[in-house]
Amino acid sequence: MQLSIIVPTYNEAPNVAELIRRVSAATESIDAEVIFVDDSTDDTPDVIRQVAASASLPVRLVHRSSRAGGLGSAVVEGMALAESDACLVIDGDLQHPPELIPVLFERFSRGDADVVIASRYAGGGTATGLADRTRVLVSKAATALTRAMFPVRLREVTDPMTGYFLVDRRAVDAATLRPRGFKILLEMLARKNLRVAEVPFAFAGRHAGESKASLRQGLHFLTQLTALRFGKMSLFAVIGGLGAIVNLAIVWGLTAAGVDYILAAVIAAETTIIGNFLLLERFVFHDMREAAGSVWLRFAKSFSFNNAEALIRIPIMALLVETWHISAVVATGLTLVVAFVVRFVFHSLVVYAPRKAGIEPTRARRFVEELDAQAMSPGEL
Ligand code: GDD
Ligand code: MN
Repeated sequence: MQLSIIVPTYNEAPNVAELIRRVSAATESIDAEVIFVDDSTDDTPDVIRQVAASASLPVRLVHRSSRAGGLGSAVVEGMALAESDACLVIDGDLQHPPELIPVLFERFSRGDADVVIASRYAGGGTATGLADRTRVLVSKAATALTRAMFPVRLREVTDPMTGYFLVDRRAVDAATLRPRGFKILLEMLARKNLRVAEVPFAFAGRHAGESKASLRQGLHFLTQLTALRFGKMSLFAVIGGLGAIVNLAIVWGLTAAGVDYILAAVIAAETTIIGNFLLLERFVFHDMREAAGSVWLRFAKSFSFNNAEALIRIPIMALLVETWHISAVVATGLTLVVAFVVRFVFHSLVVYAPRKAGIEPTRARRFVEELDAQAMSPGEL
């Protein structure tokens, strides 16, 4: 088997026969199979079985009883079941012309790319099949935002959101994928450095039926983007924000109960520092605890850092206000942002540093590498 063609479907009954007809015609000279990963609630599975019986290439069907995993997980499941390592993903509604399959396959066969992407935005490609002006705008904006957030990894990718691509399954780290929502290609590209090639194509109108994209998919996409880009950092930020609220609440409660405000501030600060540490241990750095020093050592580092930070931040703020004449609010915001980044870097590189490092690469290099690894590691947001 040279090529496994994976088709995620959700209520695509009127498109199945035409899809198989065009796919078989296009793959006459390729040893290929088709795998439908179907979550339909209509008669799509029956239609697939019927069409499979008379198809000129092997057609398999996996029917799942729930749509919960969505398009992305359907693709991952199809890839796991594929006979061939070369896995081509194509939508079931014929917006992706099957006639391009041999072109993608030929490009892939040259052997210098882990993934060949059918791009709407590469020279010669078009996105005219998008339902309306709004979809075009949303698609373009999302693509631009995504590329801006991954300037290095997506340097050569004009269409990270396309649903039409051919990937070498061995090059993808299936265990690291968090296949929520529609954007499974982005997930693969962001998690690992893949060698990419692109082939332009014209995104057609739907053959029949309607799009399953929704506002909900859009929201999925935004959380996916955040989790991909910031990984632990976004969770770290959420916990930090929570700590700030608790801090205020404690000060408010204690002063209302007549406790002196300085004492109240100290109690609130120490309580949040301890609480934050426990939350970080449990939710953000749980996967790094094992390799790091003992819990007391971690606590000591975290605790002293946070206390030192609080002590240093206030005079720096005063300095900003007094000598640079920056407004107190701006100065607070500025120092909080800087403190946040420094705190994150300190925790991931010092508090949770692995106990033993092997041969020492240059410190600067290790710093950058670890920071990058941190930023790319999956977050559970
Ligand atoms: N198994 C499964 N489960 N399939 C699904 C699900 C699901 O929950 N949701 C959608 N699909 C299938 C559809 O049946 C179709 O075959 C394919 O996934 C794409 O869904 P559409 O509803 O046609 O989405 P679209 O046309 O708006 O967007 C597509 O094209 C864009 C541009 O290439 C998707 O592929 C997007 O990811 C892509 O960005
Ligand atoms: Mn579609």
